[in-house]
Amino acid sequence: MANKRIVIGNLKMSMSTSDVNAYLKDISKLENKQVVICPTSLYIPYFVKHGFYVGIQNVYKENNGAYTGEVSPSQAYTMGIRYALVGHSERRNYFKETNELINEKVKACLNNKLKVVLCIGESAEEKSMLRTNRVLKKQLMTCLDGIKDIKNIFIAYEPIWAIGTNVTPTNDEIRTVVSYIKQVVYDLTNEDVAVLYGGSVNDKNINTLNKIDNIAGFLVGGASTDYKKFKTIIEEVTK
Ligand code: PGA
Repeated sequence: MANKRIVIGNLKMSMSTSDVNAYLKDISKLENKQVVICPTSLYIPYFVKHGFYVGIQNVYKENNGAYTGEVSPSQAYTMGIRYALVGHSERRNYFKETNELINEKVKACLNNKLKVVLCIGESAEEKSMLRTNRVLKKQLMTCLDGIKDIKNIFIAYEPIWAIGTNVTPTNDEIRTVVSYIKQVVYDLTNEDVAVLYGGSVNDKNINTLNKIDNIAGFLVGGASTDYKKFKTIIEEVTK
């Protein structure tokens, strides 16, 4: 059976318009069936036009109305976007998004045919206090409350202490946490959920991380903004 692992690139708020043009020229050479790119919202149409699966880094929970600065899931869908990141730790941290709001956003995405990449993860402090499982369970129970449509959801396990730090958990640690996540979701929904790993994935560690057998792919931040690094990651994961 063909390897179906996916690679999602989260470009965050990086790149000028000329950077994007250069990046698109390079990245268009790649096979893109198993790749999803989440650019800064303004640049999304360029990526859609180039035939990429595109994800939006944030959506609001309502479909329209007086919500200055926000974009709705239905607007995203009609612009060719098929995925949405929800609950990224940067949104939880800087924009104070709660598990309850994230739950509403997940529902709004699913109601508007967007596949959800639900990000969860523990802080360094929570890890040191051996609270990882407790934190993840709480995030999953609240963010997935009332949701049975798990086939359109990927859980991205992103330990906060691994994001942008060049530090990753060991393969065994990731495997153990991923099977815990799968068990919690199974208990909630009776379904097997696809789990991605994210946090300091790069061209140097992808060979090792890709040996983890119970994950469905990777969410890549910093390294996805560098075409050469991203290409190495994609080739390793989709080979
Ligand atoms: P990183 O970011 O790969 O730069 O650690 C991952 C993420 O924030 O999704």
